Amino acid sequence: MALAIPASGCGREKEADLVTGKTLFSQKCGSCHALERAGTKGKQGPDLDEAFGPARRDGLGESTVEGVVLDQIGLVRKNSTMPADLVTGPEARAVAAYVALVAGQPGKDQGALANAGRPKVSNKPIAAKGGKLQIDADPTGALAFVTSKATAMAGPLMFVSENKASIPHNIAVKDSGGKLLGEGPDVTGGTSKFSTKVKAGKYTFVCTVPGHEEGGMKGDLTVK
Ligand code: HEC
Repeated sequence: MALAIPASGCGREKEADLVTGKTLFSQKCGSCHALERAGTKGKQGPDLDEAFGPARRDGLGESTVEGVVLDQIGLVRKNSTMPADLVTGPEARAVAAYVALVAGQPGKDQGALANAGRPKVSNKPIAAKGGKLQIDADPTGALAFVTSKATAMAGPLMFVSENKASIPHNIAVKDSGGKLLGEGPDVTGGTSKFSTKVKAGKYTFVCTVPGHEEGGMKGDLTVK
């Protein structure tokens, strides 16, 4: 098993670091990078399982991968869309250690790692009130809204989404055929909103920033 951690104090410290690393990865890196075991599906940067899987299978060690990831975080190539120093010091080491542990590696995260970094998405529907439907973006930077379900009455409807995260998001609505019916502006640390008219039926609310809907930033809207 990949995570057979000894019951010594040192082992627990290592596990705590990995939990921190996974949480930070989900918040700071997952919107651009897919990594299966972290559950992230970002598309702007390389898929990290594909980036490291073949080399790991060819015998490249975990500590080498850790070094490569740490270098990438601190020494991003000039003009890269990847921001430099998203995390620094012990936090950067924790992220690198987590990526090195899981990238391209089969299996599932166990123990305290299993749920670390997962966005808190409620499956309790948010209901529109007074013609306004507010569905905020996950505040940590994960590709998710705070709920996966919403309801509203037919008629004019204002969609509102507050985004407290440091990456851009918006809110938009699509009909059951996937046609975009309306979308708010992309905002970073602000509120995206727009108004449209909806008839009874099934819709999806999504974030249309490239890669975000595919990454899981969507939910079902039922209009009655
Ligand atoms: C805004 C999008 C974005 C964010 C956020 C981001 N990256 Fe990247 N990353 C990229 C892009 C684009 C590349 C491709 C190479 C380049 O441009 O330097 C990349 C390359 C990499 C690579 C090299 C992969 C390879 O194929 O060799 C690693 C490792 C990496 N990123 C790790 C991270 C980690 C860890 C974080 C979080 C601390 C992070 N990235 C955050 C966009 C991003």
